Amino acid sequence: MLTVAVLISGAGSNLRALLEAARHPDFPARIVVVGADRDAEGLAHAADFGIPSFTVPFRSFPDREAWGEELGRQLEVWSPDLIVLSGLMRLLPASLVSRFAPNIINTHPAYLPEFPGAHGVRDALAAGAEQTGASVIVVDDGVDSGPILAQERVVIEPGDTESTLHDRIKPVERRLLIDVVRRIATGDLALTP
Ligand code: GRF
Repeated sequence: MLTVAVLISGAGSNLRALLEAARHPDFPARIVVVGADRDAEGLAHAADFGIPSFTVPFRSFPDREAWGEELGRQLEVWSPDLIVLSGLMRLLPASLVSRFAPNIINTHPAYLPEFPGAHGVRDALAAGAEQTGASVIVVDDGVDSGPILAQERVVIEPGDTESTLHDRIKPVERRLLIDVVRRIATGDLALTP
């Protein structure tokens, strides 16, 4: 059974989808802990499912490196097979990535390498693109630059706002993420640095 730690910063709707999938007895992975870099709303989903959680508040540390070291210590407690960044709005320091690579994956609301970074949905709209997408990638020490594990196009509709478009992307992200976790757990998908 693959053990998974999920890191979030926000509402955690993608986390909730993964929690719901992992509740099924035939799902080959289980979420053992949820972590956040702030008092994220999405931590409530962990509580709903009886999953332990922790917060390592970014602002409590003098710099990214110190924050990453504490985050790494918290994760080592659970020694998960896989770490999923699902709405973590922080770049991990390279020291943390190398500590767990390649077993860290991330979901991104764009068709990478298009529109990387913290505002992928907004950037696609601003670029006047007719379509964007969702991607699941291996985390490397770049920004959304790791190997792509799964991705799918999402059409941008006339009149879309950042919110309506993101709401259309998220269900695709969730489906891709759940499938990627399943394939990693069954060995169908091998993570390479
Ligand atoms: C997701 O689209 C994720 O890819 C992006 O932020 C969003 C988080 O949404 N980084 P939620 O917190 O899972 O609802």
